[in-house]
Amino acid sequence: MIRLKNEKQIDGIRKSCKMLSAMYRELIPLVKPGVQTIEIDMWVRDWIAKAGGRPVFLGYTIKKINAPYPAAICISINEEVIHGIPSKRRIREGDLVSLDCGIELGGFISDQAVSIEAGNVSGEIRKLNKITMECLYRGIEAAKAGDRLLQVSRAVENHAKSHGYGIVQEYCGHGTGLYLHEDPQVPNYPHGPNPKMNNGMVFAIEPMINAGAGNIEILNDEWTVVTADEKISAHWEHTIAVHGGKTEILTDPLEQYVF
Ligand code: MF3
Ligand code: CO
Repeated sequence: MIRLKNEKQIDGIRKSCKMLSAMYRELIPLVKPGVQTIEIDMWVRDWIAKAGGRPVFLGYTIKKINAPYPAAICISINEEVIHGIPSKRRIREGDLVSLDCGIELGGFISDQAVSIEAGNVSGEIRKLNKITMECLYRGIEAAKAGDRLLQVSRAVENHAKSHGYGIVQEYCGHGTGLYLHEDPQVPNYPHGPNPKMNNGMVFAIEPMINAGAGNIEILNDEWTVVTADEKISAHWEHTIAVHGGKTEILTDPLEQYVF
């Protein structure tokens, strides 16, 4: 069931999204070689608490996993696709560090992901990262009131495929705003239900694009999703709203802090 949001609710979701993006703007410069990923998680918990929000990922459970997610932010490095758990691991020069976080503010949820380049990365990594960010914007451009959702998926897929990249099929974007995960699912390739994008729809588009094949595996920690071929993966996400016949990106752009 797709929950359409009214303007008052969209205002609340927008505030949550602006808070999350403000956090990222301060966080991105701190993501550097030598930093432990657990230090980033502690910083994020502290920032969100001071801002009066709640980290939605902390303690969240998803189907098929018994253990609640143990951190405020997912940090996935290189061949890790999503759901990487912060640890004592130190970021190294040349790593691609994908950050994914969500905030609840006054009952409204935001969700945004960005892939950061630690120091100088290889040309191959930089290209994958840039094309994945572009996939997100191709998807957003295809999100139009009255059109069908899978045209978003098709736009993401076309751009990734045109560069020979693999698309992760097991995970997808999703409705959000009142709960972290709502209907509809927003896959990164055309697949499944194809609802009309109606005014009041709020959803996250989040391409997960691999330098090699799209196939993934899950580590023994039950959470960390990695590429099966151990090649690099990138992840970018915005929360958007279709309302008043227009499409609004509720989270702020972050690419100028990355490229
Ligand atoms: N950001 C992820 C998504 O967009 C959710 C992470 S799962 C969690 O679906 F448990 F870490 F919250
Ligand atoms: Co999401």
